Amino acid sequence: MGKEHSIELRNVTKTYKRDEFTIPVLTDLDLVVPEGEFLALMGPSGSGKTTLLNLIAGLDNATQGSVIVHGQDLGGMSDGEITRWRSENVGFIFQLYNLIPVLTAFENVELPLLLTNLSKRKRRDNVMTALRAVGLEGREDHYPRQLSGGQEQRVAIARAIVTDPFLLVADEPTGDLDRKSAEEILSLLQQLNKGFNKTIVMVTHDPEAAQRASRLLHLDKGKLVHDEVRNNLEEGVASS
Ligand SMILES: Nc1ncnc2c1ncn2[C@@H]1O[C@H](COP(=O)(O)OP(=O)(O)O)[C@@H](O)[C@H]1O
Ligand SMILES: [Mg+2]
Repeated sequence: MGKEHSIELRNVTKTYKRDEFTIPVLTDLDLVVPEGEFLALMGPSGSGKTTLLNLIAGLDNATQGSVIVHGQDLGGMSDGEITRWRSENVGFIFQLYNLIPVLTAFENVELPLLLTNLSKRKRRDNVMTALRAVGLEGREDHYPRQLSGGQEQRVAIARAIVTDPFLLVADEPTGDLDRKSAEEILSLLQQLNKGFNKTIVMVTHDPEAAQRASRLLHLDKGKLVHDEVRNNLEEGVASS
């Protein structure tokens, strides 16, 4: 049944309750994301893309059905277990970077490591490795306001990979960037996918951004439609 770190959604339904109304968002949805896939998710505003991303990342629970990652049913975990699971397995990338303005690039990237018991020296090594991986060595002492949008997003990506998670979830990661910076961020995501075998699930409105993924899915009326697997990016996946 796929590789160790595949993500499997089985008969997943998600509804929100608001006052006496029940809002159905996802209906009886099935999805398998194999380890190492770069999946793009598109769909109209309000179609449930962020909701689906949150389920995959263990930030929210399905109303019905199961989300199984790495053979573990996320729905069966306690709050403490799921928090720990997330911190070890998932890196988050947002549209507006979500950097802490009063912390330097180094300190922003170090944040997820403060939850671990790594030594200060090991934390420094890992932070510098992550900053190097996103092309920001030499910028570690800069504050977010001293960086361009594209550079801020690269700091956010370094923060997402510093714990070496198998999964990256990105919600409109290029939504606030100019075309050139967006292209650079997408190339970086492709490199993390191909070179480091990160599984990536990316929500995007941008058809050009979606072209960079290895698979494209559309959400519409609570269902996944129009599954499109590309082969043009398969080469290089096998490289370590
Ligand atoms: N916490 C929540 N409480 C109530 N309704 C919500 C909540 N989060 C999202 N929704 C509703 O679920 C639907 C899907 O939202 P979302 O997943 O954010 O869509 P998208 O990311 O595709 O724009 C929308 O109708 C939204 O209003
Ligand atoms: Mg959204």
